[in-house]
Amino acid sequence: WQGGVRPRRLLGFSPVPTSDADDFTVPEGYETQVLIPWGTPIRPSGPQWRKDGSNSAAEQAEQIGMNHDGMHFFPLGNGPAGSRRGLLVLNHEYVDQDLLFPDGPEEMTAEKVRKALAAHGVSVVEVEQRGDGQWQVVESPRARRVTGSTPVTFSGPVGPDHPALAAANEPMGTLNNCSSGYTPWGTYLACEENWNGYFGTEDPDWEPTPAQARYGISASGFGYRWHEADPRFDLAADPGEINRFGWIVEIDPRNPDAKPVKRTALGRFKHEGCTVTESRGHVVAYSGDDQDGDYIYKFVGKGNWRVHRALGRSPLDHGTLYVARFDDDGSGTWLPLEHGTGPLTTANGFADQADVLLRTREAADAVGATRMDRPEWIAINPKTGDVYCTLTNGSGWDNAVNPRTPNPYGHIISWTEEGGRHTATSFSWDIFVLAGDPAYDEQVDLPQSGIFGSPDGLAFDGDGRMWIQTDVSNSAQNLAQRGYDNIGNNQMLAADPRTGEIRRFLTGPRGAEISGVTFTPDQRTMFVNVQHPGEATTAWGTPSPEDPRAVSNWPDFDPDGRPRSATVVIRRTDGGVIGA
Ligand code: FEO
Ligand code: CA
Ligand code: CA
Ligand code: CA
Repeated sequence: WQGGVRPRRLLGFSPVPTSDADDFTVPEGYETQVLIPWGTPIRPSGPQWRKDGSNSAAEQAEQIGMNHDGMHFFPLGNGPAGSRRGLLVLNHEYVDQDLLFPDGPEEMTAEKVRKALAAHGVSVVEVEQRGDGQWQVVESPRARRVTGSTPVTFSGPVGPDHPALAAANEPMGTLNNCSSGYTPWGTYLACEENWNGYFGTEDPDWEPTPAQARYGISASGFGYRWHEADPRFDLAADPGEINRFGWIVEIDPRNPDAKPVKRTALGRFKHEGCTVTESRGHVVAYSGDDQDGDYIYKFVGKGNWRVHRALGRSPLDHGTLYVARFDDDGSGTWLPLEHGTGPLTTANGFADQADVLLRTREAADAVGATRMDRPEWIAINPKTGDVYCTLTNGSGWDNAVNPRTPNPYGHIISWTEEGGRHTATSFSWDIFVLAGDPAYDEQVDLPQSGIFGSPDGLAFDGDGRMWIQTDVSNSAQNLAQRGYDNIGNNQMLAADPRTGEIRRFLTGPRGAEISGVTFTPDQRTMFVNVQHPGEATTAWGTPSPEDPRAVSNWPDFDPDGRPRSATVVIRRTDGGVIGA
């Protein structure tokens, strides 16, 4: 701890118990408000949501998308005004096609593909706090949807004219935006995670290249079947289209006319998120590749980011991408993914830096990065500069940084960059907590008020409180033998990183994960996302994918409606700082 003064306690709320109710619970003294559920018009005058799923693709493109995920609040105004009005920008990770269409996805049509694309991407809405404390969406020229069909461009070593990006249609769209980030210059970063699964083909002669196989690209995809109605998603018809995915996408929330830009210098993989900081003028961006056995990366900008900006260049286009090696002795090294360095040579099949970036995973394999238990969010403690990463769960990789084999519960690691400089190429690491239930794993050191599993979302507030969100998959939750039966619904916890104390702050409705968290600058309003309430499951004894309302009908509880992802606004009834 820096400063020498004993800081006050960080966690001042009473923990909530675990829950299996179809409800959203917060501690005593807190209140909640559901904001912008799926289908809400992004301008109050826009098309209203229809609860039978019959909104058209064009209407969906003017409404909040599905499956809210990473999110950031950009204040409008300085001082107290900036905590009462702002742009709320959030990702829509994927779609549930059973809920999206009135008749489900049985028959795939071009209009259904258009609507599914329109429910993906990013929403920008202007929100304002009323006199009674409640938040509302207001008419705004900045309100915007970026969808799977929005024109985009490319920048960095894999530029817009790179032959690998050539395809029949103009460059468009972002898909599977999981976690997110934001930059010191006020832009939003949407991250493309499980983009591989949208593509498929019926062509019996199609086979994946080694690079495509390394990204999990397959003829059947995840079963969206868009390729049946739109050749853009047919791997055999248009092999360049898929190379346009797997990137970090920069969006200027204050300029609705600016094209989103895919920043290729940050690499191509299943980006969970992108956590940006600066170190002596250099921009540094951390990103996990969320796959069992994949890696943690960081990008270090070359030169001072302010100089790049002043010259009209993007600081994210110039720099070095590194991948992490965690050694068993507690030290670590950032390995550069630079063409011509180490094994990344033309003789070894890497043509140039663009090729290294298009095949980031293969490049990272070649330099000897450390396999991890599914790296999810990365967050930086503003009080110490230490970096934390959630490893949600995994097979176990016979290394000290992933100590359990298998690892159904996940863990959180931290590291300190050498000299406290985020540009450093070496670091020391530690395990912050092993998640789970001590009733099933005696290595777990958590009280009942803090048991959790599958950490995913991770963020620090300005006081150095760490916020942990969970994403236990419903199949895992269903398995008592995996030790999840006492843990209940997904939840969010607060931790004191100095003492290691972890305390449950909220629980979500059935079938939902908790994902996405942001604060007003005064930390008196917290926004949290509830994703996929009612996800088809047998966890609550109701095996009914045909009627998800049997699992959850949150937040409307309308017998004729359907469960909807939404943002939840959390405030203290006394107006105090959240968590304190
Ligand atoms: Fe979309 Fe890795 O969670
Ligand atoms: Ca998710
Ligand atoms: Ca996630
Ligand atoms: Ca997850």
